[in-house]
Amino acid sequence: MSTLRSAVPDLTETPRLPVVHEVAEHLQRTPRQLPTHYLYDRLGSTLFEAICHLPWYRIATVEQQLLATHARDIHAIAGPVGVVVELGPGSGEKLVTLLGARQRAALQVRLIDVSVEALEQASRALGAVPGLDVQLARATYEDGLAQLAHAPSVDQTLVVFLGSNIGNFDSADADRLLRAMRTAVGPGSSVLIGADLVKPEAELLLAYDDPLGVTAAFNRNLLVRLNRELGADFDLGGFAHRAVWNAGASRVEMHLVSLRRQHVCLPSAALELTFEAGESIWTERSYKYTAGQLRDMLARAGFGVAAQWERDGFALTLATPSRPATTSDQPTHDH
Ligand code: TRP
Repeated sequence: MSTLRSAVPDLTETPRLPVVHEVAEHLQRTPRQLPTHYLYDRLGSTLFEAICHLPWYRIATVEQQLLATHARDIHAIAGPVGVVVELGPGSGEKLVTLLGARQRAALQVRLIDVSVEALEQASRALGAVPGLDVQLARATYEDGLAQLAHAPSVDQTLVVFLGSNIGNFDSADADRLLRAMRTAVGPGSSVLIGADLVKPEAELLLAYDDPLGVTAAFNRNLLVRLNRELGADFDLGGFAHRAVWNAGASRVEMHLVSLRRQHVCLPSAALELTFEAGESIWTERSYKYTAGQLRDMLARAGFGVAAQWERDGFALTLATPSRPATTSDQPTHDH
């Protein structure tokens, strides 16, 4: 049986004030920004799926190959697992590959995502794997993990966080999320992190600004969404997708660049914005790591690396708790 718990605003409903405020607040930051999870509405999730099939975006393909090759090793090292929790399951294919190779029959699976589309698609895909009890939690990763920490049995959990989603978090937030994972799981648990590694700039830029323009469509769909759902009047022809490699911060940045001086209205927030030519809205960041940086991040959160597999500039890291969760690791949310 599936449960669907709602903890995030649904933009498909009449715009609610918190959503409008969040968008308005991000657009008025310096530099201007947009909340990254708004990339994933129905069309956005579909475009992202298409990105995963692009020959220039290697993350999804290489990660699938690593999972297919090492699934049995992962299960052997993780030991007996009662619950598998995936943050951001996407299409569900990665988990199908991982769980299809397991020995033990009955397994509880909990999928956490803000996107209903992703949760539904992933649970459909997991229908092909026998013996799974799939639960869906519509929540942010941290809220979903906090709910887990309150569940009766948190031992022998495998937390799976793939697709280099960790790279979409700034360093302090990534640390916080890894600590939330550590707090949510008990002894005998493990975490599996898939993360993209630093590679030549030209390769990175092709992955985030592909010749077919799918990534550009994915990014610009944010504006389509703001127009449709919040009544904004962004001129789609007036903004271009741009991917930039910020070597100092070791991240690819996605922007929507205003091609000329223009005004945009967001009537639901009583806001009128002026964009200068070349001024951009920063929409997403994608950090790239070394294998050692990943081990250090996990160590800071209280995990020791049990195994790390690398292929074509991508790493899959399996880690287990190295020390008890400390009180400072407790989630800051009230429930
Ligand atoms: N998790 C993906 C990544 O960082 C998200 C992503 C891929 C993305 N391509 C994008 C986000 C383009 C914004 C724009 O690789």
